[in-house]
Amino acid sequence: MAAEPVAKRLVVLVSGSGTNLQALLDAVAAEGVAAYGARIVAVGADRGDIEGLARAERAGIPTFVCRVKDFAAREEWDAALAEAVAAHEPDLVVSAGFMKVVGKEFLARYGGRFVNTHPALLPSFPGAHGVRDALAYGVKVTGCTVHFVDDGVDTGPIIAQGVVEVRDEDDESALHERIKEVERRLLVEVVGRLARNGHRIEGRKVVIQ
Ligand code: GAR
Repeated sequence: MAAEPVAKRLVVLVSGSGTNLQALLDAVAAEGVAAYGARIVAVGADRGDIEGLARAERAGIPTFVCRVKDFAAREEWDAALAEAVAAHEPDLVVSAGFMKVVGKEFLARYGGRFVNTHPALLPSFPGAHGVRDALAYGVKVTGCTVHFVDDGVDTGPIIAQGVVEVRDEDDESALHERIKEVERRLLVEVVGRLARNGHRIEGRKVVIQ
C-alpha cells in the first residue's frame, strides 16, 4: 500500500488585515489538511495588534512577532525572523501582505520556498504601492502575481498571475478590493498545488510537477 503523502508545513507572514491568510485558513478547514496538502503551523508578523494575528489566534494557530525596531541592525532582525520561522520547521513560507523585505540570512534558508503575493502584474509596479502606482500610470488591466522571493524587490520567478480590469471610477481602495478577490483564490490554488505536487525552479520558470 502506498504511504499517505505527508501534509506540508506552512508558516505565513502578515503585516495587516490578513484576508489572504484567512483564505488559506478557510481552504485548509474546508478541504481538510490531507486533501489540501498543507497545514498552517504558525503565523508571524513584523508588528503586533493586527487583524492578521487575531485571525491566527482565533484559528488556534501559534503566532510570533519580530519587529525591526527591536534590533540594533536590520541584519539582526532578518536573522531573528529566520530563526523564529525555523522554530516551526516549515516546508514553505508564505508572505501574505508581509510588508518587509527580507535579507540574506532569511533567503539563505528559505530561498526557493518563500512565496509572496503582490497586487500588480509584475514586473510592472513592484514595491509597497502596486495598486496606487498602476492606477496612476493609467493601465487598463492590472492584477496580482504569486511569485518566489529572490534578493530583489518583487523580482523573483513568477508562479501564477491573475488579471483584473481597471474601471474608470476606480480609486485605490476599490481596485485593491477587486484585486484581492482574485488574489485570495489564486494564492489558495497555488499554495495547494505547490504543497501537493512539489516544484522546481529553472531560471525564471517555475515548474509545478
Ligand atoms: C495584498 O493585496 C498583498 O498583495 C499586498 O498586501 C495585501 C494584503 O492584504 N502586498 C503587498 O502590497 C506587498 N508588496 P491582506 O492583509 O488582506 O491579505
